[in-house]
Amino acid sequence: MSSEAQHKDTVITRREFINVAAIGAAFLSLAAVFAGLFRFLKPKVAYEESTKFKIGAADNFPVGVVTKFDEKGVFVFSSEDGLYAISCVCTHLGCLVTLTEAGFDCPCHGSKFNKDGKVVGGPAPRALPWLQISRSVDGSLEVDTAKEVSAGTIFKIA
Ligand code: FES
Repeated sequence: MSSEAQHKDTVITRREFINVAAIGAAFLSLAAVFAGLFRFLKPKVAYEESTKFKIGAADNFPVGVVTKFDEKGVFVFSSEDGLYAISCVCTHLGCLVTLTEAGFDCPCHGSKFNKDGKVVGGPAPRALPWLQISRSVDGSLEVDTAKEVSAGTIFKIA
C-alpha cells in the first residue's frame, strides 16, 4: 500500500467529522437530561431536628427539683405553682451556664444571671430566655427551645 493510500485511510472527511460530532453532542445532551432527572429523584430538603423535646410526665418533677437537660441546653424548675423552663445557653457566645445559689454563672466569660435569668454581670447582652412548656398529644410534657415565653410564665400542672 502506498503512503498516499494510507494517508487517505487515516484522514476523516468533513462529513464524517460532523457525524461524529453530532453523535457526541447527542450523547452529551442525553447525559445532561439524565443527570437532571436523577437530581429530581433525591429531594432537596434540609431536615432539621425538632425544637421540641419530651421531658416526661409531670410526676417526674417533684416540687423544688431542678432538672438539667444538657443536650438540649435547658433547665426545668419545679415550683409549687408548676413548671418553668429556662435556657442554659448563655446569650453572649453560647456556653452552657451553671446553676448557682444566686442564679446562673457562665464559665466562659463570667456572665452572671439572677434566678429569673436576668443579666446581673458580665458581657451577656440579654437575659436567659424562658421557654414554652406544653403537654403533647400523648400526655407527656415537652419543651420547645424555639418558643420563648415571658419571664415568670409557669406551666400549671392540673
Ligand atoms: S459565653 Fe457566656 S459570658 Fe461569654
